[in-house]
Amino acid sequence: MPEYLPPNLDIIRPILWDSRGLRLLDQRLLPWREKYLRLRTPREVKKAIKDMVVRGAPAIGITGAIGLVLGAEKIKARSKRDFLAKLKRIGESLKKARPTAVNLSWAIDRLLQKANEADVSQDEIVEVLRAEALKIWEEDIEANKAMGRLGAELIPDEATILTHCNAGALATGGYGTAIGVIRAAHEAGKKIKVLADETRPWLQGARLTAWELKKVDIPVEVIPDVAAGFLMAQGKIQVIVVGADRIAVNGDVANKIGTYSLAVLAKENNIPFYVAAPLSTIDLATPGGQEIPIEWRDPKEVLCCAKRRIAPKGVSALNPAFDITPSPYISAIITEKSVVRAPYTKGLKSLFEV
Ligand code: MRU
Repeated sequence: MPEYLPPNLDIIRPILWDSRGLRLLDQRLLPWREKYLRLRTPREVKKAIKDMVVRGAPAIGITGAIGLVLGAEKIKARSKRDFLAKLKRIGESLKKARPTAVNLSWAIDRLLQKANEADVSQDEIVEVLRAEALKIWEEDIEANKAMGRLGAELIPDEATILTHCNAGALATGGYGTAIGVIRAAHEAGKKIKVLADETRPWLQGARLTAWELKKVDIPVEVIPDVAAGFLMAQGKIQVIVVGADRIAVNGDVANKIGTYSLAVLAKENNIPFYVAAPLSTIDLATPGGQEIPIEWRDPKEVLCCAKRRIAPKGVSALNPAFDITPSPYISAIITEKSVVRAPYTKGLKSLFEV
């Protein structure tokens, strides 16, 4: 059975792909069970992204791209034009799975453009798309390693690093963005320790970041989200590194809910606050944070914990999944090309100049 995997695959593997379809490590079950779900259709892939089987901006981009290939493999078309129209419909539907991370629409648009430009038969277009999806995956791992190397230089030896949510191998093609920086600092021999915000309500920090760091032998302790400010004021945190779901041209960052509060507290306590993200997360079509669409999820996610209701019946909840950190709170944005500091508009735009 042919496997479609990038040559630089990481040891932590949220995504696997072979000729029978896509397999996703079900992140809803971690750290209790390591179970892969097999998906065969774009509809199943869309649902898996919505339901958080796979999550994290680059990982949902790669998964969406593979979902489009799964759709392309099954399209029955009268003509190439018909094929391309059907492919576009599948892509547009996949894009709607989650709105905030730009990587999802970025990856699907990249494949759709490849298909439109390919002057070959329908079968060959499927091959072109498969190769492009793999390229996106491989490039993402390379980008993570490169930003890891650049970011590691910003991490002092013996630092305690605070991170939020999960911006690791599980959230990417492999290695991780914020956790990539942490892994690279560790691999460079720095004696570091990580504090992982538990990250209510999905607990990506307690469940996923702690699981992942344990796998690569990096010391980690989980803290309640609400403890971060106190620990900063106590001098227990030297640096903060987080990921991003979308970065606007002015440097405003959308990331997991709670990121903004951390950034404000970091400024108050004179702690450097870094965002690590690949170029695929920078959205040149979005001028500022106010234009970034924020996903609001089911209030049940807040009202229940470990499948048990924790608030009285009849009480509802607000559940914004992301927030916006204005760029003045960000010390630097670490990308695979360079570390960008204010003024962000100039610095971020220059990353795309050839
Ligand atoms: O809701 P999630 O778990 O998809 O949110 C993930 C995050 O906010 C990550 O920090 C972000 O996607 C960067 S992942 C490299």
